[in-house]
Amino acid sequence: MTDRDRLTEHVLQGLTRPQKALSSAWFYDDEGSRLFQQIMALPEYYLTRLEHELLRSRADELSRWIDPRCSPIDLIELGSGDGAKTLSLCQALAQREVDCIYRPMDVSAHALADLSRRFDTYLPRMAIEPVLGDYFEHWPQIAEGRRQVAMLLGSNLGNLDEHGAVKLLQRVHSHLRPGDLVLLGLDLVKDPAMLRAAYDDSQGVTAAFNLNLLTRLNRELGMDFDLAKFRHYASYCPLEHVARSFLVSQVDQVVNSKTLDRGFVFLAGETIYTEQSQKYTMASIEHLAAQSGFDNTCTLTDPRGWYAITVWHRLPFTPTQQTST
Ligand SMILES: C[S@@+](CC[C@H](N)C(=O)[O-])C[C@H]1O[C@@H](n2cnc3c(N)ncnc32)[C@H](O)[C@@H]1O
Repeated sequence: MTDRDRLTEHVLQGLTRPQKALSSAWFYDDEGSRLFQQIMALPEYYLTRLEHELLRSRADELSRWIDPRCSPIDLIELGSGDGAKTLSLCQALAQREVDCIYRPMDVSAHALADLSRRFDTYLPRMAIEPVLGDYFEHWPQIAEGRRQVAMLLGSNLGNLDEHGAVKLLQRVHSHLRPGDLVLLGLDLVKDPAMLRAAYDDSQGVTAAFNLNLLTRLNRELGMDFDLAKFRHYASYCPLEHVARSFLVSQVDQVVNSKTLDRGFVFLAGETIYTEQSQKYTMASIEHLAAQSGFDNTCTLTDPRGWYAITVWHRLPFTPTQQTST
């Protein structure tokens, strides 16, 4: 199935449900990746700065947790983006002369091109094998005798609900061998106002990022979304610890698609649910690890406890496998 076929099927399903919804995985065309790079530099978007600072200041410690004996490893990053933060960790591994192959995976060619330029400039001796594709479908081939470290930074995992996150982690588990690791960057529960602002910045970049999804559908599926008739809306629910983004139809309207040869009715005030960002506590991190077949080995946080980097060991079996055998 081509990307276009998958997008067609996704839109058909997503816009005909009682609560319209589209996955945030489709945000990242070239313009979406460019806008996300701007978001990462916004004052309200503290996630990138905190994670980068943790990776920079604790890089040596992390590299020793990941690879205490300097054995050969493959660093597989799911949704790597431009790799700016991973560079610090890779530099620490290179400093210890670890034989490391970095395998960034991303659906965005733009992000992977930026990543390759960055590594060519700052760490040209690092072996890089980028994978352009969906991490739900692809996994790189790893030679025997090399340990795997699977990484998800930027609180990427939080874009999935709990069921989806466990499913992805169990998929990762199935590709790892005992002794392999997972490294996750996860955003922690904090002041709800601060969390909401991270998804509704004052310069409107996050709004443009959300609306760009409609531009993508206009281009790729011959749709006629009028962007002036939709508005970005972001919320944070302190009960569920989830930030959510929506596009809100400002009027009653019908949006047509040439490719799908049909229209979609929107009522004034009706929403398309486009993104969720789960926030975590230490207890929910432990719970997630246990549900997915991992042992939470260590967790680092910044001094205010706003962001966490956690390293998990793969257990021999996932909990479901354990109960059925
Ligand atoms: C929130 S950004 C984070 C980027 C990077 N990890 C960081 O922390 O800066 C999410 C990235 O994951 C990629 N992505 C999202 N869903 C994906 C999927 N299913 N397969 C591969 N890449 C995906 C996007 O293209 C984007 O570059």
